Amino acid sequence: MKDTAQAPAREAGSADRGPTGPLGVAVVGAGYWGPNLVRNFQSAPQFRLRWLCDLDVDRARQVLGGYSTVGATSDYAAVLADPAVEAVAVATPAGTHLEVALAALRAGKHVLVEKPLAATYEDGRRLVAEAEERGLTLMCDHTYCYTPAVGRIREMVRAGELGEIQFVDSVRINLGLVQKDVDVLWDLAPHDLSILDFILPDHVQPVAVAAHGADPIGAGQSCVAYLTLQLNTGAIAHVHVNWLSPTKVRTTMVGGSKRTLVWDDLNPAQRIAVFDRGVDLSAPQEIGADERRDMLVSYRTGDMVAPAIGEKEALRSMVEEFAAAIRTHRPALTDGRAGLRVLDILEAASRSLEFRGAVVGLRTGR
Ligand SMILES: NC(=O)c1ccc[n+]([C@@H]2O[C@H](COP(=O)([O-])OP(=O)(O)OC[C@H]3O[C@@H](n4cnc5c(N)ncnc54)[C@H](O)[C@@H]3O)[C@@H](O)[C@H]2O)c1
Repeated sequence: MKDTAQAPAREAGSADRGPTGPLGVAVVGAGYWGPNLVRNFQSAPQFRLRWLCDLDVDRARQVLGGYSTVGATSDYAAVLADPAVEAVAVATPAGTHLEVALAALRAGKHVLVEKPLAATYEDGRRLVAEAEERGLTLMCDHTYCYTPAVGRIREMVRAGELGEIQFVDSVRINLGLVQKDVDVLWDLAPHDLSILDFILPDHVQPVAVAAHGADPIGAGQSCVAYLTLQLNTGAIAHVHVNWLSPTKVRTTMVGGSKRTLVWDDLNPAQRIAVFDRGVDLSAPQEIGADERRDMLVSYRTGDMVAPAIGEKEALRSMVEEFAAAIRTHRPALTDGRAGLRVLDILEAASRSLEFRGAVVGLRTGR
């Protein structure tokens, strides 16, 4: 049944668009998150939104409003058959990402998938392989990576301004919606793990994870979880995610040998503070043999600097990156492989939860 409320006017495909014309795009999924993609694709000159597709066509119509020229449909095959659609953005539940995204890739479309890339590592791997074989862009919407604050943190960390990374500590807690299909780890930790993947220099990689979780309200799955990641350099990263916290906290601390950075996403006046404070250990040859061991330790108490951070909606930057990746045939900043690395950690963390915090090795490197 073709359940098209209003089909968009016929338009040329990529061959006739020219190298700079807007890319035809369709959004699949008009639930909680899909409308945010719709709004950003509609306001980005790099795209022309052609369709909003949802199993519930009324929901798609409602999101678009009465005067829209964008097509609302529940007929995904018709969307994929439209030659003016060059890219598809998938905002359906994670369990459907493989099916929806794979169909788009097989129809020759570039694909943006909401986080997490897929429900399992194996599903994610199939998507990455399909996109690479076909030379198509596969990008994962790791939204936080496109916030101005995280962009700045990445620049500072990768330029060595903090020195060697010693520890990362990320807290993402609030009274959250207790989900039916995923635990707190799969719901919230993809944000922290994608940020970690994004900011760390290429030579610093997680190699193993241990996770502890609890379900103190009897929800049937973990509502509180703690992840500890071992990094290949000997550094450590910790992630605390929690649906049961009465207060909302969104803080990440990145400790380096030179400086330590604190990002508080809930403090718009000072999202990032960089502390020139820390602990130095003198090299043993610098002190006399008879000096006590505790004299090796010295404390730095320098300035705190709060860099000016611009304001720009993350999803706006994210859709711009999707367009740039398609046009220049380069991997997106958060490409399918970045999505896969996050899935690797999530799966390993789930296995660790089953074995009460056992350390589980990771398979992927960069
Ligand atoms: N980037 C972020 O910060 C962020 C935030 C929230 C959600 N998400 C992600 O967005 C995705 C969607 O989450 P949500 O909260 O909007 O879910 P939702 O359940 O509110 O909406 C999903 C929509 O998809 C539709 N749908 C399901 N299967 C479909 C199919 N095969 N074809 C067409 N439509 C289909 C449903 O009818 C529903 O309207 C998830 O992957 C989620 O993890 C990302």
